[in-house]
Amino acid sequence: MTLSSPIAESLIVPLRWEGQLFGQLDLDIPLGSTDHFTDTDVETMKNFARVCDAFHALRVYARKEETFLEKLLSVLMKALEYHDRYTRGHSETSAFYALQIAHRLRLGPEATKKLYWATFIHDVGKIFIPQEILSKPDKLSEEEYRLIKLHPLKSEELIRGVEGLEDIATIIRHHHERWDGTGYPDGLRGEEIPLPSRIIAVVDAFEAMTSDRPYRRALGIDEAITELRRAGGTQFDPVIAKIMATILEEELEKSRK
Ligand SMILES: [Fe+2]
Repeated sequence: MTLSSPIAESLIVPLRWEGQLFGQLDLDIPLGSTDHFTDTDVETMKNFARVCDAFHALRVYARKEETFLEKLLSVLMKALEYHDRYTRGHSETSAFYALQIAHRLRLGPEATKKLYWATFIHDVGKIFIPQEILSKPDKLSEEEYRLIKLHPLKSEELIRGVEGLEDIATIIRHHHERWDGTGYPDGLRGEEIPLPSRIIAVVDAFEAMTSDRPYRRALGIDEAITELRRAGGTQFDPVIAKIMATILEEELEKSRK
């Protein structure tokens, strides 16, 4: 029926949430029709409006909760940045490249979102590692290295307790596994390692290679690309390492134009 059609009867039910009108359901019977709204129609519409109200309320709560969770994760990362100065800016850059890889792998929206947040907070467990070890300019002792290697488990432990973030906790646990099985904490190899964890391993390593550390200077992008290609199939998933190298080569190409 068009807006200009003459109407014989209308049944309008308001949609409300917390006393606020957010819409209305509107059914019309055109002029000339022999139909009439019955009491049952009115009841059905009221029930339908209740379902709409509930659905709207659920969406509002879900959005509020999601925003809250995102803020909470950002605050956690800020805390880590104060604790470990080498983390500053690291999470954002890694998450930025993880999104680009997800796009090229055509991951769905839900998987991409999980990957983004897992990348963003994967090192949060470093909060439990003493600052002197994180910023030590010399070679780490065996004991110090053992402590550093605990951070994926600590990250997992922190996140595992948050309802709805269980998948992210698993992704984080495995971000230091290596394609050839020599990584930690579980020594998983190849496709045993969750795909998002393999992506984090690549973007994380790239970020580390191209940042200054107390014990070595940062690599240039060209050198990092060579390293990514070299370590594809040993340290990294070869497909993901190749995608990352291609993304970086395209960026370099653009910047030279
Ligand atoms: Fe890490």
